[in-house]
Amino acid sequence: MASEQASEQDVLLAKRIIGAAERHDVPALKILLKEGSANVQDPTATVATSPIHAAIAACGKAEEGKEAGDEAVQTVHLLLENGAIWNDLNKEDETPGCIALKLGQKKIYDVMVEAGVRAELLFAKMAALGLGGDDDDEEDEEEAEEEEKPAAKKQKVSEEEAKPVQDPKVLDDVSLDNKAYLRSQLRYKPGILLDESDNAVMMDWETQIMQRHAETIAPKKGLRLMNVGHGMGIVDTAIQTHEPSEHHIIEAHPQVHQRLREQGWYDKPNVTIHEGRWQDILPKLVEQGVVLDGIYYDTFAEDYAALREFFSEYVIQLLSPEGKFGWYNGLGADRQICYDVYTKVAEMDLYEAGFDTEWEDIQVPPSLHGSKEWEGTRRPYWTIDIYRLPVNTFVK
Ligand SMILES: C[S@@+](CC[C@H](N)C(=O)[O-])C[C@H]1O[C@@H](n2cnc3c(N)ncnc32)[C@H](O)[C@@H]1O
Repeated sequence: MASEQASEQDVLLAKRIIGAAERHDVPALKILLKEGSANVQDPTATVATSPIHAAIAACGKAEEGKEAGDEAVQTVHLLLENGAIWNDLNKEDETPGCIALKLGQKKIYDVMVEAGVRAELLFAKMAALGLGGDDDDEEDEEEAEEEEKPAAKKQKVSEEEAKPVQDPKVLDDVSLDNKAYLRSQLRYKPGILLDESDNAVMMDWETQIMQRHAETIAPKKGLRLMNVGHGMGIVDTAIQTHEPSEHHIIEAHPQVHQRLREQGWYDKPNVTIHEGRWQDILPKLVEQGVVLDGIYYDTFAEDYAALREFFSEYVIQLLSPEGKFGWYNGLGADRQICYDVYTKVAEMDLYEAGFDTEWEDIQVPPSLHGSKEWEGTRRPYWTIDIYRLPVNTFVK
């Protein structure tokens, strides 16, 4: 009876917190959050919602003259300060930022992006210090599991990544572990490369993007270039059109080596294939004093921490002072807010490592969304409209 009463009280408190969030009643919310959590759910509600989802939904559509006022913005800030999770999902599979975007509430959307950036930077710092995040602390894992993770492709943020390599037979999705992926069977089909778990590793709709990446790292002929991750060879083919004096390709998957062999890449003038993971190859190239004018990075089944390690440990040592670094910007591309957060996080980490970033926006073919191209794949890794192409140079 006592616990029933307690749970009734909990439901009542949850309703009051959500109600105050919806009304953007900051003074009431401040008091209520001393007793209850910013992440409460009302179990009796027909559509379960968190306070922050409720606060944003209550703003209504901006285009109907309802641009979020100060109270709404303060409510969102207050909930975030009290631990509301930036990428928490409601029953409709929407983060609070997704709702803000849908409603055209730009100010609130920007607040959510900033919150995501802060959370991800903190998460990464904690992981680096061994204070949870990516470690094996059970509570942290449970919390992390509640959070939204961007879809697989190329870079992923996943706590699984940090765990010891699992037996690929047990692992349902090999893209969750780089070494499991590298041991798995690939399938080259027309216009697509698939891994053993049906993830699209590479697709030919990205050709224009790859060509532009090649142009940006090779603004003239005769440069010393390196590409990490051959895949379908789209970017390497584009790099060849810029007639490099050196063209290094680092690739770790044996079936991709086979394909490189079949297609005569080993015999092309100025091309050097380095078989192995970049983590093993690059220290040797640094030791040999290799200097490059352009570096491109586009791997698979690696998380953002790998990209950060790539530029902050190796690009800084291998790139010439005037050189250009490009990388596939695909993290979180199945959800606009995740894409915006990780784009910003990368820009900040790149700056910390000594790089300026210039962004070029490329329109993704609108026909891609929901198209047949995704048939037979585990999930579409790209659902947003704009690819933000990064070009990095050393800060002057
Ligand atoms: C997305 S594909 C690259 C697509 C390429 N940009 C293109 O234009 O076709 C990623 C490639 O990186 C390779 N790869 C994955 N992890 C790697 C690692 N740690 N070191 C080197 N190559 C890796 C994969 O085998 C795959 O061939």
